Amino acid sequence: LSTTEVNVGALEEGAEITVMFRERPHFVRRRTATEITEAADVEVSRLPDQLARNANLEDSAPATDQNRSAFTALIDDGVEVDEGLRGSLLVSSANCTHLGCVPTEGAGDYDAWFCPCHGSHYDTAGRIRRGPAPENLPIPPMTFISATTLRLG
Ligand code: FES
Repeated sequence: LSTTEVNVGALEEGAEITVMFRERPHFVRRRTATEITEAADVEVSRLPDQLARNANLEDSAPATDQNRSAFTALIDDGVEVDEGLRGSLLVSSANCTHLGCVPTEGAGDYDAWFCPCHGSHYDTAGRIRRGPAPENLPIPPMTFISATTLRLG
């Protein structure tokens, strides 16, 4: 299976890029402190989809903010990664879990992602909060292979 390497060192807070991984677009966002706090303050029990949907965790892992972030990425031997960077990065599929449209960045009820096709609102942790999408945006397997390089896959 193919992998994709992403240099996250140049991503400033609040910046986002879209990368291709296994022929599908993925969001890589370095969230601001406010975005992280907003997501972390939400009780998992209030979420429509309470599972993390994170390939780096067990299937039953809850959709906490930390479980949704790159804090959960593996780290290669000998590599040191700043904890703040790990927790600030959100890497997820960029295909809406309803019918696959690509949500718009910085939009919707949560100023995060809004899918214009049928009106799904995702929060700053990529979790579905309102609309027809059934699940949170899936998070791919990922490993820090240097302090600023994430390998997807
Ligand atoms: Fe996103 Fe339908 S494809 S809401």
